Amino acid sequence: MTCADEYRPASPPTDGRHFRNVLGRFATGVVAITAIDPSTGEPCGLAANSFTSVSLRPPLVAFCVAHTSTTWPRLRTAARLCVSVLSERHEKVCEQLAAKGWDKFAGLRWSPSPGGSPVIDGSLAWIDCAVEAEHVAGDHVIVVARVLDLDTHVDHAPLVFFRGTYGRFEK
Ligand SMILES: Cc1cc2nc3c(=O)[nH]c(=O)nc-3n(C[C@H](O)[C@H](O)[C@H](O)COP(=O)(O)O)c2cc1C
Repeated sequence: MTCADEYRPASPPTDGRHFRNVLGRFATGVVAITAIDPSTGEPCGLAANSFTSVSLRPPLVAFCVAHTSTTWPRLRTAARLCVSVLSERHEKVCEQLAAKGWDKFAGLRWSPSPGGSPVIDGSLAWIDCAVEAEHVAGDHVIVVARVLDLDTHVDHAPLVFFRGTYGRFEK
């Protein structure tokens, strides 16, 4: 039996549920990507687990956004974005930032980063950045952003996303 036989896919890679089941076994952290919408002066943002660091020289990070996002068109017009790394205490905040069609910032506590974008209170770290490039990739866009400023913030455990739900990080 060859490796290919042994690991023959249980269903075609285009099966969305199977794709999510397999990829969902890759545990990630969760971030809030936020900005002040230049057209309204109001904060806007979304939750994302596709965030990653990319390059040190120059300092770049990346994340993927679905074409269906109604918040990305607002975020991408801002000169500055802020990425807040969410803690295990942010499950509700994450759900609120992931919800569609209402004031995501209602009751949400934040303060401005040096670049003027919202840093979610209690975040583990924040990263001020500016969009450098957008690459269309299937039903998402891969956003590459240049890091302008960054710092650690609160020392809590991270919010972990695993197999479609939230988990805990234990050493
Ligand atoms: C844990 C978690 C991770 C998410 N990660 C992403 C992501 O990486 N990219 C993305 O486009 N949406 C992601 N979402 C969905 C967005 O937060 C949000 O629901 C989506 O952008 C729709 O809202 P919008 O229309 O306001 O943009 C995630 C949601 C959750 C709860």
